[in-house]
Amino acid sequence: MSDTPPPVSDQPVLKLLNVESAYGPIKAIRGVSLQVRRGEIATVLGSNGAGKTTILKTISGIIDPRKGSIEFKGNDITTRDPAFIVQQGLSHVPEGREVFPLLSVRDNLVMGAYTRNDRDGVAQDMEAVFSYFPILRERATQDAGLLSGGQQQMLAISRAIMAAPDLILLDEPSLGLSPKLTKEIFEIVVRINRERGTTILLVEQNANMALNAADYGYVLENGRIVMEDTCAKLREKDDIKEFYLGMKEEGVRGERRWKKKKNWR
Ligand SMILES: Nc1ncnc2c1ncn2[C@@H]1O[C@H](COP(=O)(O)OP(=O)(O)OP(=O)(O)O)[C@@H](O)[C@H]1O
Ligand SMILES: [Mg+2]
Repeated sequence: MSDTPPPVSDQPVLKLLNVESAYGPIKAIRGVSLQVRRGEIATVLGSNGAGKTTILKTISGIIDPRKGSIEFKGNDITTRDPAFIVQQGLSHVPEGREVFPLLSVRDNLVMGAYTRNDRDGVAQDMEAVFSYFPILRERATQDAGLLSGGQQQMLAISRAIMAAPDLILLDEPSLGLSPKLTKEIFEIVVRINRERGTTILLVEQNANMALNAADYGYVLENGRIVMEDTCAKLREKDDIKEFYLGMKEEGVRGERRWKKKKNWR
């Protein structure tokens, strides 16, 4: 494996067009259009309640959109169910990890590979995740529920890798983690993209980490995409610097900032 970035193709692996999702009367995302190209890390930035998690749940089939369409690898998956979508090669690491607490770390990883029959490939990928996160090898026989929050995040990401997906959806991996652990996890996410060529769509409040890790970014305010560009360019924009990276009170469309309570681990 080499450190050269995988070639980013112009072909979108994922394409959302005018997607609208709601919870009863509450419209959570409105007219969201975005693309993720094969080989890249794309990010959606937004503060609490912007609709980041809703976008990922809509893509992975947990909720059906009211309007719009979603294409994955050229096929329409708009109203497909989650099991079908996973089988097509799309893995979702949900907000708050959700590992199986009463299964061992190893069995959680085996569960991640349930759609595969290539035993050798599964064994190789198990080795690969143990090399990314050596603590998981040490804790392989322990119940996953006994892991710390950061270790559970590592396990949740690893379980997604075990499915050998073309695309991983990653919901706020930094949530509740110390800055040091957040940095470590982001470094591994970038390695997974570079070394395995896995395309990643990452949603984050931590704009600083996300803009450094990703290639292309979208800014979501109040359920709408209000800005998009390469992350290199977004990092230079005054609105982004002031609101998402600094101390300004209002975002591009007047969204106010408020911080989620962090649980330090
Ligand atoms: N199950 C639900 N029922 C009703 N409203 C919901 C539900 N889940 C989310 N919402 C609402 O939809 C909007 C978008 O929520 P979402 O969870 O997608 O935001 P988010 O960007 O992921 O926020 P956070 O950074 O806090 O995780 C919010 O206004 C939220 O209150
Ligand atoms: Mg969320």
